[in-house]
Amino acid sequence: MKTFYWKLRKDDENSEIFRQAALLIKRGEVVAFPTETVYGLGADGLSGEAAAKIFAAKGRPADNPLILHIADRKDMDFLAVELNNNARILMEKFWPGPLTLVVRKASVIPDEVTAGLDTVAVRMPSHPLAVGFIKACGCPIAAPSANISGRPSPTNGLDVMEDMEGRIAAVLDGGSSGIGIESTVVDTTAPVPVILRPGGITAEMLTEVLGAVEIDPALRGDENLIPKSPGMKYRHYAPKASMYLLEGEAGEELFRLIMGAKKNGLTVGVLCSGETAAKLREYENIIISSWGNSCEELAENLFYILRDFDRSKPDVILSMSVEEKGLGLAIMNRLRKAAGYQILVRENNVLLLKNNAKLPEFMVECKK
Ligand code: TXA
Ligand code: MG
Repeated sequence: MKTFYWKLRKDDENSEIFRQAALLIKRGEVVAFPTETVYGLGADGLSGEAAAKIFAAKGRPADNPLILHIADRKDMDFLAVELNNNARILMEKFWPGPLTLVVRKASVIPDEVTAGLDTVAVRMPSHPLAVGFIKACGCPIAAPSANISGRPSPTNGLDVMEDMEGRIAAVLDGGSSGIGIESTVVDTTAPVPVILRPGGITAEMLTEVLGAVEIDPALRGDENLIPKSPGMKYRHYAPKASMYLLEGEAGEELFRLIMGAKKNGLTVGVLCSGETAAKLREYENIIISSWGNSCEELAENLFYILRDFDRSKPDVILSMSVEEKGLGLAIMNRLRKAAGYQILVRENNVLLLKNNAKLPEFMVECKK
């Protein structure tokens, strides 16, 4: 399939291109578009056949439901039933923006979109190009992140092309997406709303308006708990090289681990703050990816950096951690997944892997 590649100005909410993109959507095709979180892979959200094409293009497991994107709060009235007060408060307070609400679904929504669940995830993005595109289509747009299943979500048009060229009808390129990690998903059907996936709207922000919010315990780094959201159980974001996440005191081992890897002839990729990157400057033959100096910058750069490691091809990646509060909760969730839960910790001065797996050879001499 030929994939049209259309470049747009970030603020061009009335672009002529949207008419062409909308024609493709009406024909049941798939079109990728920018949002303020990551790029989405959009199709007509009221057509089961069109939604099926998204699953095919991504290689997505059929049991993982899609998010419906709308441009007007009023659309919630025909997509949801039994909309409760918590859902209404969140729509009012955080839409448009990086928050997805899981609500009881109306019967107009095809089973392909919700993977047979009786709930549906809905979000109203704020990105001007997402808004313009959805309005031109005149229907809710079902869209997962625009990556091949398992890869980091794309945050710019070229990364979408890398995964989707030849698989979908068109890509709308509006430059870098902004926040950089996916929306927060909240189940509003529970008596106390539950965060199913942490994201741009933090637990603290939700607690402030709702009084109380729960966090799915499976998000806290224990890979043995089954997450409540179908998509959260899959391996995700993983770069091709083996990645290790240094948590807590293990962070102090970074320099020794780098030396150990180099001694064993391995090229190391390091994912760390700007401050740490500055200290690594005199090391030769390591690939340093600095995420900057705040969680906002880290979120913005994270998926690009992970994809970039597939281009620079280190043998092993060592990633530093951030504190698990605010945006840090979402970031640590993505980093743990990207590392395939290979989490290094230091207990009683001993370096070990959290899941008790054997330390790789190059780390053993650093064990102490
Ligand atoms: O920021 C975002 O949310 C991006 C942009 C494109 O909007 N979209 C995105 O979609 O990240 P996706 O498909 O990659 O992730 C959607 C997540 C999955 O973990 C899925 O399992 C969950 O939302 N989800 C969707 N419908 C659900 C439902 N009814 N109940 C529970 N979880 C649901
Ligand atoms: Mg995704």
